[in-house]
Amino acid sequence: MPFQKDFLWGGAVAANQCEGAWDADGKGISCADICTVGSATQSKRITPVLEEGTLYPSHEAIDFYHRYREDIALFAEMGFRVFRFSINWTRIYPTGEEETPNEKGLAFYDAVIEECRKHHIEPLITISHYEVPLALTQKYNGWASREMIDIFLKYCQTIFERYRGKVKYWLTFNEINGATGGFGGFLSQGILNEGTKDFMHQVDIPQLRFQGLHHQFVASAKAVQLAHSIDPAYRVGCMQIFSTSYPLTCDPKDVIACQQRNHIKNWFCGDVQVRGAYPNYIWRYFKENGIEIEMHPEDAETLRAGCVDFYTFSYYMSSCETADAEKKKAQGNLIGGVANPYLKASDWGWQIDPEGLRYALNEIYDRYQIPLMVVENGLGARDSVAADGTIADDYRIDYLRRHIEQMREAVEDGVDLIGYTPWGCIDLVSASTGEMAKRYGFIYVEKYDDGTGDLSRRKKKSFDWYKKVIASNGEDLA
Ligand code: BG6
Repeated sequence: MPFQKDFLWGGAVAANQCEGAWDADGKGISCADICTVGSATQSKRITPVLEEGTLYPSHEAIDFYHRYREDIALFAEMGFRVFRFSINWTRIYPTGEEETPNEKGLAFYDAVIEECRKHHIEPLITISHYEVPLALTQKYNGWASREMIDIFLKYCQTIFERYRGKVKYWLTFNEINGATGGFGGFLSQGILNEGTKDFMHQVDIPQLRFQGLHHQFVASAKAVQLAHSIDPAYRVGCMQIFSTSYPLTCDPKDVIACQQRNHIKNWFCGDVQVRGAYPNYIWRYFKENGIEIEMHPEDAETLRAGCVDFYTFSYYMSSCETADAEKKKAQGNLIGGVANPYLKASDWGWQIDPEGLRYALNEIYDRYQIPLMVVENGLGARDSVAADGTIADDYRIDYLRRHIEQMREAVEDGVDLIGYTPWGCIDLVSASTGEMAKRYGFIYVEKYDDGTGDLSRRKKKSFDWYKKVIASNGEDLA
């Protein structure tokens, strides 16, 4: 059998995209809570002052906050062995800086974890998934400030102590390398520069993003050490967007352009978090882009001592790179590139490439030699409910089948792959556009972009298919 006996099959979500209850039980406002709805062609807006009558999709989302029992029971019915979710920082520390944590927030995640355990599902928790407390954005401009390190570690200490013995796997920052590109400034670092009004056209100051990344690297390395000191059984991973990149042609100029892109977008953050030091190639990039990172003398040792235990990543698509600046750009999962003539794209322009996943798994494992998990993968698509109530999402089954086949190949190639949690195992709000229409789930949620819908849950055709995949440990993909 290619997949190991205890392979972690499951699914993934993030708090701000599914919980709703944005101001319930003492929760503070996060950066996600000030974003409106957009679409593939229209950017979502960022409104630090909430507008009367405007719809904010995170405010209700799919109301996982009140329906987690029903949802986790459905995951258990599919046979999940792991459930990846995030803790919303603002439920625990509403502004990030309270003296004591919010007990009701902690109790909510006690209940979610207990529900998972009841169904023999291993929780895999992302500590920060696009949910920086808004108060920290307003006071410090998010991760641009070094103050964030201690504030984050206090939050980590609280949750590491609270959930000791009940959780094994933690991820520090979701898609940390998203901040190597402009969108990540606000989305993952809570940096909101003067003049930014919408998500697609942020006022971008690369110096702040890369300084922010340094703070996140130090915070993540300290969190790894803290976790191990609180519970030696804790395993802490990094989480990257891996967007396989091919040279558009075999012109050596394209090959070098591709290598440089890979260095910055795909490898830089992983190299720091897995190997514990800045890679050599980054210094030239910094020099040529006028970036100067302020580091404290002890930071190098902190990074070295805080290497992650395992490597996780999201994989949705691939792209091509060329030295020819004029060539048309393909839209990407926060990280763009050039369209590949051999591939088809989703309705949102993401190029579908199962072989690219096998390639990524081999490249990553060759480089790091630590266990890997694919913690996001899936097809965002429009689903329609037939008159008899069924949802025939064969396109999603096809996408997932072809990716699992390639994971299987990678395992046969010798890659140590320990888990797979497809994204949005239940329909939820899209991170890039704020839409509900871009659905990923095995479970359909009756909720629409105008905020209507009774929030009821319904199994799609892919539900039974994935159940069979898990039951056969990835053997039966028919
Ligand atoms: C990743 C994020 O970028 O991709 C998720 O970690 C996100 O939060 C997912 O939802 C899919 O992207 P989107 O924009 O289709 O929701």
